Amino acid sequence: MSKDVIIACDFASKKDTLTFLDRFGQVRPFVKIGMELFYSEGPDIVRELKQRGHQIFLDLKLHDIPNTVEKTCRVLANLDVDMVNVHAAGTIAMMQAARRGLSVKQGKQPLLIAVTQLTSTDQAALENELDIHRDMQDVVMHYAQNAKAAGLDGVVCSPWEADQVHQACGADFVTVTPGIRFASSQKDDQKRIMTPGQAARVGCDYIVVGRPITQAQDPVAAYQECVREFTKETR
Ligand code: C5P
Repeated sequence: MSKDVIIACDFASKKDTLTFLDRFGQVRPFVKIGMELFYSEGPDIVRELKQRGHQIFLDLKLHDIPNTVEKTCRVLANLDVDMVNVHAAGTIAMMQAARRGLSVKQGKQPLLIAVTQLTSTDQAALENELDIHRDMQDVVMHYAQNAKAAGLDGVVCSPWEADQVHQACGADFVTVTPGIRFASSQKDDQKRIMTPGQAARVGCDYIVVGRPITQAQDPVAAYQECVREFTKETR
C-alpha cells in the first residue's frame, strides 16, 4: 500500500476545480471529490479528472439499505474511482453489500473505507441524540472493527486515532486522515490536528489535506512540501 497525500478539492464547480488543478502542470495529485462538487457537476467531473490522470477518492459517505448501496457501488466501480466510503453505522451487512457492488470491476478494485463517527458528533450528541452510551473512542474502535469484519480496507479517522486503529485492526488496515496542518499554518475549524510529518510517524496511510493547500499562496509548493514531509518519514 502506498502512502499518499490526497488534496480535498472542496470547490463548488468544475471550473474552479480545473483552474486549481491546472496550476499543477504535469503533476497529477490524488484528489478527493466530495458531495458538493459531485452533486453539482455529476459523474462527468470524475470522468474528466480520471482522464487527466488523477486518482480519485469519491467521498460520498453512502448509508442506505444494503441492496441500494450494492447497486450504487457497482455504478461507482464503473466510474473507475480509486477510493470510496460508506458509513459503518449502516451495519456489517451494508458494508459487505458495498464490497460486493465494487467487485463488479475487473482488476484492481477501489479501496473501500468506512466513516466511523463523524468528528462533528460529540459525546453529548452520541448519548443524547444517537442513544449510544459508550465512550466515543470505544465506539470509533468498535465501528472500525466492524468495518474490518465486513472486509473493508480501512477507515477515515483522526490522525490521533490511527495508531489505535492499526493496533485493533492490523497494520495493513488503511487509515485515511484529515485534520492535517503545517506547523506554521492556521488551524481553521479543525481541532485535533497533526502536521504531515507527525501523521507519518504515527502510521497514517493517506492524509487528506484541503485548505493548507487550496488556500495557500502557492498551492503547488504547499502540496510538494506536504508530500515531502509525509513521505520522508517512515514508521
Ligand atoms: O481544509 P481541510 O484540510 O480542513 O479539509 C479536510 C477535508 O477532510 C474536508 O474535505 C473535510 O470535509 C474532510 N473531513 C474532515 N474531517 C472528517 C472527515 C472529513 O475534515 N472527520
